[in-house]
Amino acid sequence: MSNGNRGSLADKIEEIVSQTLKEIDRASALAELQSIEISCLGRKGHLTGILRTLGSLDPQERPWIGKLANQGKERIKERLRLRQVELEHKELRKELAKETIDITLPGRPVRRGVKNIITSVVEEITEIFVGLGYRVAEGPDVELDYYNFEALNMPPDHPARSLWDTLYVTDKVLLRTHTSPVQIRYMEEHEPPIYIIAPGKVYRRDYDISHAPMFHQIEGLAVDKNISMADLKGTLEAFTRAVFGPEARIRFRPSYFPFTEPSAEVDVSCVICGGKGCRVCSDSGWLEILGAGMVDSNLYKYVGYDPEEVSGFAFGMGVDRIAMLKYGISDIRLFFENDLRFLEQFR
Ligand code: DAH
Repeated sequence: MSNGNRGSLADKIEEIVSQTLKEIDRASALAELQSIEISCLGRKGHLTGILRTLGSLDPQERPWIGKLANQGKERIKERLRLRQVELEHKELRKELAKETIDITLPGRPVRRGVKNIITSVVEEITEIFVGLGYRVAEGPDVELDYYNFEALNMPPDHPARSLWDTLYVTDKVLLRTHTSPVQIRYMEEHEPPIYIIAPGKVYRRDYDISHAPMFHQIEGLAVDKNISMADLKGTLEAFTRAVFGPEARIRFRPSYFPFTEPSAEVDVSCVICGGKGCRVCSDSGWLEILGAGMVDSNLYKYVGYDPEEVSGFAFGMGVDRIAMLKYGISDIRLFFENDLRFLEQFR
């Protein structure tokens, strides 16, 4: 091989190397870098092609041309590596810039839930009684006939059972029709003095604008020495004033419940017209809000109390009705339909 040849091969190598280095420096993306590498060092690359011809060179030429080519290859690889690191950084910075959070933008509003008014009213009433020294008690929704009826002074076939449109699970198991069974359950477990309220869901076979198959009651029970009907009246007066305002008055009407003797239905002066008479109170000026009475001494036999030692009063109120009166709502079913337009008004 002539000197000229040798010179031109070396020149060619130099040319390829410097050209490739320039391309590497100019590359602006990782993908570009990759194609440069392939076209120079790949299986069919320019430099690879030259390295392959080395075998046919004059043995004297081979070492230094080979060295020149290999050094060029190493320089290219090194430059590729550096440029790759640079480009990776550049692309990462670009990526990060894209993902920057603009903290000056207004946030998406968090949708806050609202308590159902029934829950608020239960809480409000509970607080009033807790303030009077009462404790909160609870009982199961699925109840035994024994607690719902029998121990409340209604043995099997007692006619008063028909006052409640009962939903039965089996002969002996039912959905409680009122919160009164909690009276028996609590007295079984505790000795007097007892001052409790028991809020909870109750169930009846009923459905119209003022009746839902599930609704809410709050039961009250006070058993102590020397409790009289005056204590009942004073307690209910304090309660109605706290819920309906200081002008609210109450009246007792004689009534009948199997578990109280005497029994009364309690009215509050109409919260709409103040007692003058309007559509809501059917012109009577009064609204019935609860049943109450002195605990029938028969109940004490079921729980092992001595009727000569203790006496007590009990009451039960419909929470949904009280909520309807307080907020001027005409259909009880609105409470349970989960229509947000209705529920969100009571924030
Ligand atoms: N449990 C009765 C009902 O659901 C309400 C009631 C009346 C409860 C008189 C009482 C009471 O504790 O003394 O209709």
